[in-house]
Amino acid sequence: MTNLNNPFDTHAFRDALGCYPTGVAVVTAGTPESSHIGITVNSFASVSLDPPLVLWAIDRRSRRHDPFVAAPAFTVSILSAEHRAVSSRLAGAGEHSLDGLTLLPTELGPPALADSLAVFECSREQVVEGGDHSVLIGRVLRFHRPQNGAPLIYFQGRYSALAQ
Ligand SMILES: Cc1cc2nc3c(=O)[nH]c(=O)nc-3n(C[C@H](O)[C@H](O)[C@H](O)COP(=O)(O)O)c2cc1C
Repeated sequence: MTNLNNPFDTHAFRDALGCYPTGVAVVTAGTPESSHIGITVNSFASVSLDPPLVLWAIDRRSRRHDPFVAAPAFTVSILSAEHRAVSSRLAGAGEHSLDGLTLLPTELGPPALADSLAVFECSREQVVEGGDHSVLIGRVLRFHRPQNGAPLIYFQGRYSALAQ
């Protein structure tokens, strides 16, 4: 049943949104201190083929919000089912370091995760305010597909897999 209660039931809203299955990606970017940081996201989406644009959204309350919004470039790595531990790690509160992960260098700078299904190297095109999130739109300057395989899936608040 549609929930039109007042006050709006944010918890139920979040649960309803979780009925939409998504893939999982890690976004990386540089910081002014010249280290690189990463975050696990499922808000990644394609926007436009010509020009090639993609988007993802970051919570304004995230400790990683300001450096990601300020970064002129970001790299999106689409995770495979084998990346579950990496995904959990970069979804940890305050856990944004890439130390110890197997990475691939990119031309724009922010590294990609090794063995990703696809990698999109983006320049920051636009940042749009979206309520409690900032929506980052990136122009894809390079992309590659390091590996074939099954994607990591997120559904109803849990990791899942595609049925074969
Ligand atoms: C599967 C999954 C998808 C997520 N997607 C997003 C997302 O799209 N945007 C976002 O801001 N946080 C997302 N998160 C939460 C962040 O990965 C991370 O947990 C959060 O930023 C931690 O807070 P901190 O950045 O303050 O350390 C996701 C977490 C998981 C497990």
